[in-house]
Amino acid sequence: MKIIKAKDYQDMSRKAANIISAQIIMKSDCVLGLATGSTPIGTYKQLIEWYDKGDLDFGDVTTVNLDEYKGLPRENDQSYYYFMHNNLFDYVNINPERTHLPNGMEPDSEKECSRYEALIQSLGGVDLQLLGLGHNGHIGFNEPEEAFETVTHCVDLQQRTIEANKRFFDSIDDVPKQAYTMGIKTIMMAKKILIVVSGEDKAEIVKKAFFGPVTPQVPASILQMHPDVTLVADEAALSKCNI
Ligand code: GLP
Repeated sequence: MKIIKAKDYQDMSRKAANIISAQIIMKSDCVLGLATGSTPIGTYKQLIEWYDKGDLDFGDVTTVNLDEYKGLPRENDQSYYYFMHNNLFDYVNINPERTHLPNGMEPDSEKECSRYEALIQSLGGVDLQLLGLGHNGHIGFNEPEEAFETVTHCVDLQQRTIEANKRFFDSIDDVPKQAYTMGIKTIMMAKKILIVVSGEDKAEIVKKAFFGPVTPQVPASILQMHPDVTLVADEAALSKCNI
């Protein structure tokens, strides 16, 4: 694993955006795996800035997102569909037909998960997967479990994740309790993985995930087994690691 230490959030965002833009420049018709959460917002902002300058072209890019809440319509401003449009898709020349997310409004979990998994395979897999890191070590919505979940599936969100997400909703009762997410195997099949982490509140989990034992109790720890992972983290997030 490559670890790139950034000064702060802005520096982390710029370094991560550099890696994504290198991918787009090297393979203009690449498949990008994208993530939501607050951490990648600065990365997307930077990509938009470079697009505006004429340095980046999303015309042939395809995207597949990691996850989506089950039961939230696209128009809900907390859906990941809404997030992606609001933070990236609406500001660059990406073809909306080439942007994919799980369909949170499909009530049949089995049907939706197999559709999404088959879609990713039909695209030839993900060239570069961007990830954030949850406080409990989750990636996508793969929560700590007894065993690593394999492919795209429906998850019951953990109380801690529901709590962490409640700031975005009117009340805790409005926070969805389930989500569709790529599985650990889906994520691990990406050719390259880029994980972005910022802030002191993530320092403990960064240490556990990347320097501790590989265990499904810390889902991100499996990334230690992937042949091409780059962690871009700021000094605060790396403050408990000896690097
Ligand atoms: C959510 C998302 C994850 C994300 C995580 C961390 O639960 N499903 O993909 O990585 O939150 O979010 P943040 O970057 O806001 O800390």
